[in-house]
Amino acid sequence: MLILSIESSCDETAVAVTEERNVLSSVINTQIEEHKIYGGVVPEIASRRHCENISLVCEEALKKANKTYKDLDAIAVTFAPGLIGALLVGVNFAKGLAMSLDIPLIPVHHLRSHIAANYLTHKELEPPFLCLTVSGGNSIITEVKDYTTFKIVGATRDDAAGECFDKSARAMGLAYPGGVTLDRIATTPDFKKYPLPTPKVEGSEYDFSFSGLKTAVINLIHNASQKGEEVDVPVLAATLRAKVSDMLVQNTMKAAENLGYNKIVLAGGVSANSELRRKMDEECKNRGFSLYYPEICYCGDNAAMVGAQAYFEIKAGHTADESLNAFATMPIDYI
Ligand code: KG4
Repeated sequence: MLILSIESSCDETAVAVTEERNVLSSVINTQIEEHKIYGGVVPEIASRRHCENISLVCEEALKKANKTYKDLDAIAVTFAPGLIGALLVGVNFAKGLAMSLDIPLIPVHHLRSHIAANYLTHKELEPPFLCLTVSGGNSIITEVKDYTTFKIVGATRDDAAGECFDKSARAMGLAYPGGVTLDRIATTPDFKKYPLPTPKVEGSEYDFSFSGLKTAVINLIHNASQKGEEVDVPVLAATLRAKVSDMLVQNTMKAAENLGYNKIVLAGGVSANSELRRKMDEECKNRGFSLYYPEICYCGDNAAMVGAQAYFEIKAGHTADESLNAFATMPIDYI
C-alpha cells in the first residue's frame, strides 16, 4: 500500500512516501533557522511557512519516490497533538488531496508516529513492548499492546523532558533547539558543584516532573550572575543531562519490571540524546532486556514515521472523512 504522509505539527513541513515499513522518500523542510532568533517556535510564523511550503515539499517527495499522485493508495496526516494553526495546514491539505484523488484519509496521532519511527529502523520489531516517548511537548511511558492499542502508565505532570532541556539551554545562552546543543557541548557531570534536585511525584511511581529541575538551573544561573561568578556551562549541561536521563531511565525500568516487559523502545526527539541512550543501553543490558531506538534521522519530526503508523491505522479501519479536525492536545490512547 503506497501512502503519502504529511507532518506539520510544529516547525517542520514534512512529506514522505512509504510502502509499509519501507521509505521511498522523506522530505523535511525545517524552519529552525527562522525561529532561532526568537529562542523558540513562534506559532504564527510556523503556520505561515507550512502554507507556503507544503505543496512544494509534497511535489518533491513524490518526485524523489518516482511516483505520481495517481500511484497513491491513501493520504495520511498528523492531526494531533501539536500547534493548532500548524496542524490545520497539514490536515486541510491532506483532506483536499484525499478528496480530489478519491482515496482514503488516515488521521495519525503524533506520538504514535514517533513510536512507529522504530518500525522503519527495526523491520522485525513488533508489539507488545514498553515505550518511553520523550519529545519537546510530551514525556510518557506507554504499554504498546499492539500497533494501535496503547496504555499510558506514566507521564510528566508538568514540563516535557525536551522543554526542560530547551529552556535550561536558553538560560545557559545556548542556541535553539537547546536540547541538541546542550547534548553536543556537555562534558562530565559534577553533582557536588551543581547539586540539582531530584523531583519526586506523589501518586504514581512512573510519573515525572521536570519543571523544578528547569527552575533550579535558571535560578543557579541567575544567582551566579548576581555574584559575578562564571558558570561552567559544559559541566552544568552534563549534570542536567545526567539528571534527566536518570529520571527517565529509572521510571522506565521500574515500569518494565513491574509490568513484565523485557522489550523496551525509545521514541521522540529526545531519544537522540546520547546520555539517555547510553544509560538506557546499560540498564537494559544489566537486566537482559532488548532495547530499540530509531535512527537519528527518524528521531525528530518527519513524515516517514507518520506513514509507518498510518499503515497499521488503516488496517485497523481508522480512516476519516472531510470532517476531520486538528487538536492541540489528544491522549495517545484516544481510540
Ligand atoms: O520529537 P521532536 O522533534 O518534536 C516534538 O514532537 O516535540 O522533539 C523535539 C525536542 C526538542 O525539545 C529538542 O531540543 C529535543 O527534542 N532534542 C534533544 C536532542 N535532540 C532533540 N534533546 C536532548 N538531546 C538531544 N540530542
